Amino acid sequence: MLTTDPLRLAVITGSTREGRMGPVVADWFVGRAGAHPTFEVDPIDLATLDLPMHLPDHLDETHRGYAASIDAADAVVVVVPEYNHGYPASLKQAIDILKSEWRRKPIGIVSYGARSGGIRAAEQLRQVFPEFDAMTIRESIALANVWNVFDDDGNPRQPDQLAAAARGMLDQLAWWADALRSARRADEALAMSS
Ligand SMILES: Cc1cc2nc3c(=O)[nH]c(=O)nc-3n(C[C@H](O)[C@H](O)[C@H](O)COP(=O)(O)O)c2cc1C
Repeated sequence: MLTTDPLRLAVITGSTREGRMGPVVADWFVGRAGAHPTFEVDPIDLATLDLPMHLPDHLDETHRGYAASIDAADAVVVVVPEYNHGYPASLKQAIDILKSEWRRKPIGIVSYGARSGGIRAAEQLRQVFPEFDAMTIRESIALANVWNVFDDDGNPRQPDQLAAAARGMLDQLAWWADALRSARRADEALAMSS
């Protein structure tokens, strides 16, 4: 049973490379998430954030908006390519620059790449997020040979198959997002009352 109280979903485009495919994949997924009955979607494109290469003690004003988006999210999906059997440095920096904002949130992964569909990048992220007390969900999407998955207009060549994969992932993400939001709210209420 899905909640009727909308869940906020941040969708991060993890690549910043010139000529990247990331926005094509992210735009498709944002579209599917927007069509889901439960989610309000907040797209975040790391290429527009210009995060610093160093880890600052305090975020400056331009980056505080990014922190606020993740803080407000009930769930996050990272759209991640595979680069040399890993995930891009841009995404690692965007993860490490925050801390409590990730806490007790479910994370979905949409990976893409050449033959592997980015699964090595995805599996590496599964090692990283528990350190923030965040959890990656089981359902994921891996798009192999991503340049063949979408046509020149950015539309999937097999829309029904991809839509079904997205729906399965979003349903699972909604379950976890609702459950963890309830648990976080219960914790906050307890802290307020004590
Ligand atoms: C630097 C670099 C390294 C890559 N390494 C891999 C790899 O190890 N495995 C793979 O499946 N694809 C690899 N690829 C293919 C990318 O996953 C694919 O080009 C994808 O579109 C990159 O994401 P982007 O277009 O959003 O930057 C690599 C691409 C680049 C640019």
